[in-house]
Amino acid sequence: MPTLTPFDLCSRNTLALPCQGAKVQVVDSVDDAVNVLSGWGELARPLVIGLGSNLVLPELLEEPVLIIRGGSVQFMEGQGDSVTVVADAGVVWDELVAQCVGAGWRGLENLSLIPGTVGAAPVQNIGAYGVELKDSLIYVDVFDFESMSRRRLEAQACKFDYRDSIFKREPRRFVVLRVAFRLNKNAPFTLAYGELKYLASEPDVTVQAIRAKVISVRQAKLPDPACIPNAGSFFKNPVVSKDQALRLANRFPEMVQYPLTDGQVKLAAGWLIDQAGWKGHRASRAGIHERQALVLTNLGGATQSDILELANDVYQSVLDLYGVELEIEPVIV
Ligand code: EPU
Repeated sequence: MPTLTPFDLCSRNTLALPCQGAKVQVVDSVDDAVNVLSGWGELARPLVIGLGSNLVLPELLEEPVLIIRGGSVQFMEGQGDSVTVVADAGVVWDELVAQCVGAGWRGLENLSLIPGTVGAAPVQNIGAYGVELKDSLIYVDVFDFESMSRRRLEAQACKFDYRDSIFKREPRRFVVLRVAFRLNKNAPFTLAYGELKYLASEPDVTVQAIRAKVISVRQAKLPDPACIPNAGSFFKNPVVSKDQALRLANRFPEMVQYPLTDGQVKLAAGWLIDQAGWKGHRASRAGIHERQALVLTNLGGATQSDILELANDVYQSVLDLYGVELEIEPVIV
């Protein structure tokens, strides 16, 4: 079993922020993770890092860190048109999607190319192009620090919401070990998102074609963290009351608004930030992506404070202009 050591976490977060982890343990299997966690005991609840694609890390991290790498994916067929897929936390998310799509299983294709690991995916209930993780998730196997044991949380117990879950609301309580999905060979596709709509009228559209389109849309809009360090959308799309949405629409007729089923209205944070003039903005070490105003980038040498300072300036300007409060989406450690 590897031992706890100092570890440079700069290459382990997609914003490429400098971060020295004082006590880091890397494990290569779910069983090793459980052994380590049981040994550490109740008081040493670690920060778990997958690929660090949704984290804003400080320069020095004194608390224990657990990195779970690799693992396997199991397909349990023999359930008619559906399959149960169980993936270990350390599996790279897009490798799981590629395997499922490659075998013709439908359900995860709209979530192609999202950076990160399987273990991180339920924390923020990843979502894209009209699909969220929760739509196909059956259960999450976790290590629970309250009982100091492994347990299974069925989907409902995970309290999934837009970019939210019990794992985000009760930080450091659970370590995700495995995630199970129900996928199907014949389920209807979700093609309501603008750039996917045309596929709905194509005869014999395949799950592979949808994955290919999603990848090309993402590549056109979102920077590849390997080239331009970033953590994806830096703010959630804010939800406002119907009244506030109406007042805003009167003042800003072009404003992008999505009515929700509960009567509230979701706004596009990217639109608000873009219209506030931030797109392509470059501060000394942090910037706003030129094709997607919702993405903050490390221009080189940025630290956590550079990123948070820029985020705060964006937050303030959107508040001043529209009276709308943005909420940061990645986890600030
Ligand atoms: N928009 C602008 N300017 C911009 C960016 C967006 O005007 O700079 C407008 C677009 O024209 C569009 C609207 O805002 O009318 C929404 O933009 P887009 O479709 O690009 O999606 P988004 O709301 O900015 C969300 C997710 C993304 C996900 C896409 C596609 C959040 C916080 N972000 O972005 O998720 O890929 O929808 O479903 O919900 C992530 O979570 O890291 C992420 C990338």
